Amino acid sequence: MVSINQIISLCKRRGFIFPSSEIYGGFGSGYDFGPLGVEMKNNIKRAWCDEMTKKQNLPVGEIVGLDAGILMSPKIWQASGHLTAGFADELVECKKCHKRFKMDELDSSPTAQNDNGLKCPDCDGELTKPKKFNLMMKTFVGPVEDESSTTYLRPETCQGIYVNFLNVMETMRLKIPFGIAQIGKAFRNEITPKDFIFRTREFEQMEMQWFCEPSKANEWFEYWKEQRLNWYADLGLKKENIRTIEVPKQDRAHYAQRQIDIEYKFPFGWKEIEGIHNRGDYDLSNHSKHSGKELNYLDEQSGKKYIPHIIETSVGVERILFAFLCDAYTEIKGARTKTTQAVKETEMVLKLDKQLAPIKAAVLPLVKNKPELVKKAKQIYQLLKPRLACQYDETGSIGRRYRRQDEIGTITAITIDFDTLKDNTVTTRDRDTMKQKRVKINDLREVIGV
Ligand code: GAP
Repeated sequence: MVSINQIISLCKRRGFIFPSSEIYGGFGSGYDFGPLGVEMKNNIKRAWCDEMTKKQNLPVGEIVGLDAGILMSPKIWQASGHLTAGFADELVECKKCHKRFKMDELDSSPTAQNDNGLKCPDCDGELTKPKKFNLMMKTFVGPVEDESSTTYLRPETCQGIYVNFLNVMETMRLKIPFGIAQIGKAFRNEITPKDFIFRTREFEQMEMQWFCEPSKANEWFEYWKEQRLNWYADLGLKKENIRTIEVPKQDRAHYAQRQIDIEYKFPFGWKEIEGIHNRGDYDLSNHSKHSGKELNYLDEQSGKKYIPHIIETSVGVERILFAFLCDAYTEIKGARTKTTQAVKETEMVLKLDKQLAPIKAAVLPLVKNKPELVKKAKQIYQLLKPRLACQYDETGSIGRRYRRQDEIGTITAITIDFDTLKDNTVTTRDRDTMKQKRVKINDLREVIGV
């Protein structure tokens, strides 16, 4: 299995992810996405958005998009329960080494305890009593920093959907059931950001809120669980690396009547990548109560008025990008070297799904010292570039260039040779099968298949 350090090293070396503020010594486990990281992130977001708003073959209803603000009225966070105990972690500190830990992450087995209870996992020191720590990121709006100007960066994107429920339903003339999907940044003042991009203080969420009749909520919950698992399977996540966990009452989020976590087997263990929540009428009822605005739905056929129940699917972009990278990371000993005539060493291939691969095609002139080949290769690169993400590379042996592209998951390598000049055909090489084909330049997009 790939190690977390192999992923971190690949990400840094090949321009996927850099540590934030690196020249200043880093900044609180923050990360910046480089050229390949941003391509891959955009591919994930596009795949999710298309899945939700275009591809869903829903038995009834539809899903529409929204882009609400990061900064909203602080009243929203009162109503949602995020400013109270509901959205707080228990924090303990080691009295000896002063490291801080999330209480629910400490090993509570007898061997991990001393006479005073749990001990510090790093130095065996005594720990302080747990203290509640709210995860909201506070800020001020306007020039005066006082209580009246205090607001918060949103810790989840969905509250923007709930407070726009009526706006969206009325302007789009939607009938229950329907969904609203949103992608955007969320912020949490995590006590212990860790495991590379797994848990950070700033991240992006892709959330879909499905508004339905209360009596149908359980059915829809099952439906959305299946749909989300199918999505991961379609994008090639290995079946053995994905599972679901029914979250017991005491561990559920404060708004959830039922919660299933979709987990991925990361190098550091099984961890949540997505939550499916039955939020009941928790959010709309609370916003109705706090705002004084009725957030009801009138069923015209039955004449019944009710507060819709909500099934939520919620996933972090960076977290699944990490999972997709781990899943795709493949080491091949020797096997590929014969064909690429490279040195006999372990080669690495990033077997990402075609939709997710940051670079779709690499354009490679066979040699760089023949101006006519280089000219033709650059023409082909210019032809493809506006339509799909591609790279031009003329440095090093062709085998070495194939390996560079394999490492970042490029789907097809296109080699331009002397025959190209005669008949306008090129050699394509498939990343996974390494099969080579002679292809007309005009058919390239079809062959690449994206
Ligand atoms: N609206 C529901 C909600 O926010 P959540 O389980 O707290 O539920 C949903 O978060 C998803 O957001 C998680 O499954 C994870 O993918 C992502 N996420 C949450 N906190 C994160 C963090 N600190 N860093 C990166 N991703 C995070």
